[in-house]
Amino acid sequence: MPTKPNIKLVKTPMTAAADIKHTPPAGAWIEVGRLDDIPRLGARVVCAPDGDIAVFRAADDHVFALRDQCPHRGGPLSQGIVHGHKVTCPLHNWNIDLQSGTALAPDVGCAGVYSTRVENGVVFLYTAPLPSADCSGSSE
Ligand code: FES
Repeated sequence: MPTKPNIKLVKTPMTAAADIKHTPPAGAWIEVGRLDDIPRLGARVVCAPDGDIAVFRAADDHVFALRDQCPHRGGPLSQGIVHGHKVTCPLHNWNIDLQSGTALAPDVGCAGVYSTRVENGVVFLYTAPLPSADCSGSSE
């Protein structure tokens, strides 16, 4: 049974901040909210015990989740620009692949990747990073 997450909605022109209720457990599937509540090319932030997780919705309604920390200098990826299945960090414009979490060449590094699924229009997130994506943090 998914638990209610600690979610804040990234402010965009289309949305407003949501209340933060409580912190979700690590290593559990949680309900993030309805897919329609995440604007296309936007993101929500789930405040997990080991750091914020950015949940992105691409234009084609694919949902991705990354540690909300750019591998360059920790910029908030949730506030970046989503294009295709990539996000451009708002601080220094590194491009990060949303599927793998890796920085696109010539940059090097990666953000932790989290599993997501959408069931009946509801987005779920697993709050522990994929083992192969244990690479969050700065590359400098
Ligand atoms: S912190 Fe993201 S590009 Fe520099």
